[in-house]
Amino acid sequence: MTAPDIPADLWEGATPATWRARWGVPDLRIFRAVGSTNDVARALAEEGAPEGTVVLADEQLRGRGRRGRGWSAPPGQGLLLSMVLRPREHAAAAVLPLRLGLAIAGAIEDATGVVAGIKWPNDLVAAGRKLGGVLCEAAVEGGLPQFVVAGIGLNVLQQDDDWPPELRGHATSVAVAAGAAVSRPDLAERVVRMVSIAARQGEGPLAPRERDELARRDVLRGEAVTVDGSPAGVAAGVDPDGALVVSRGGATRRVLSGTVRVIREAPEIGTEPT
Ligand code: BTN
Repeated sequence: MTAPDIPADLWEGATPATWRARWGVPDLRIFRAVGSTNDVARALAEEGAPEGTVVLADEQLRGRGRRGRGWSAPPGQGLLLSMVLRPREHAAAAVLPLRLGLAIAGAIEDATGVVAGIKWPNDLVAAGRKLGGVLCEAAVEGGLPQFVVAGIGLNVLQQDDDWPPELRGHATSVAVAAGAAVSRPDLAERVVRMVSIAARQGEGPLAPRERDELARRDVLRGEAVTVDGSPAGVAAGVDPDGALVVSRGGATRRVLSGTVRVIREAPEIGTEPT
């Protein structure tokens, strides 16, 4: 039997209704613990929850990362949240995590001055270590998305000693990258606001402005990479459909999915052993 989700009466000293009004979202559910915020958000979306509905938890017992990996964070140290999005236009699957990654990186930079990098397709990084990730799960009917649940996991308050041995040197947090105290509510508000704006303003392919911003943050660009363990060439940016462009011997190819590593980089991680 799975543990029941536990709603929170207060989060960071205020009620969910207070945060909902402050963040300007139509609905906000806050939990002390859930299985996965993506599952709660999906259930709400299936019941008709409007775009911008947010589910936030201090702890996840079955947090999910990309490609079947897990996502774990010590209670109360990260931001674990999911938003219901209702895209009107179809976009290639790789676009949304990148678009939202740019919004989250902007929120981190505004809140702390930390310039987070983006590692295709969905990682946020600082100083070569993983800060967070985005997991978009779509419900599709007749080829059209009915809704997308955008799950965002950010390491916020963890210190270097907090990581289990297998993650030391591979994971970091916004507080460590900033070298200063970070307010989770302030960061949460900025993330929620910037993700809402990005989802509303941008649908379809990445716009030139987004690709310029991505080029600024792209930590793979110019690096020799492997894709799913095989040497693939040199990463040469991201195309408008969110595919990673890799060049080798004068030829280029588009990578649509996979695990990419810089050659000689440590193995890709969730915040859980893979
Ligand atoms: C990744 O880097 O693989 C993506 C990680 C996404 C984790 C977040 S935490 C909140 C939301 N709920 C989940 O179960 N996963 C996402």
